[in-house]
Amino acid sequence: MKNSIIIFGLLLTTVFSCSYNSEDDLTEDVVVEDMVTYQDNVKSIIDNNCISCHSSPPVNGAPMGLTTYQQVRNSVENGNLIARISTMDVASVMPVGGPRLPQNLIDLIIQWEADGFLEN
Ligand code: HEC
Repeated sequence: MKNSIIIFGLLLTTVFSCSYNSEDDLTEDVVVEDMVTYQDNVKSIIDNNCISCHSSPPVNGAPMGLTTYQQVRNSVENGNLIARISTMDVASVMPVGGPRLPQNLIDLIIQWEADGFLEN
């Protein structure tokens, strides 16, 4: 009787330890979570904080739109987008007048540049 309880317990352990994701799933997760992309991460940050002025066409005196992958990438590469969201200077921080974006969102955009501006 004692033995069959132990065997039953072992069986249960085996069944549950096998019910986790397959190795394939796990590998996929790692890749997806590691890379920052425009579609998954950057677009929603810009949509929520910037396009009320940086729309297309831009309004409220904003000099350019930030509604497409190319526009945002261009502003990081050839403009000063990262400096403007990172600065502690309330007079020049974007969004205009602050508050400054949460640091984790600023870091995502910096990471997006470092990862090579992935689109999807
Ligand atoms: C309330 C309107 C408004 C919002 C919201 C806003 N901006 Fe701006 N932005 C402006 C205006 C006006 C200017 C031009 C004056 C200046 O450079 O300060 C500007 C300028 C800029 C510039 C400099 C462009 C250049 O070529 O010199 C960048 C980069 C920028 N914004 C990025 C952003 C980002 C990124 C966000 C969101 C995190 C954002 N802005 C949110 C109004 C806004």
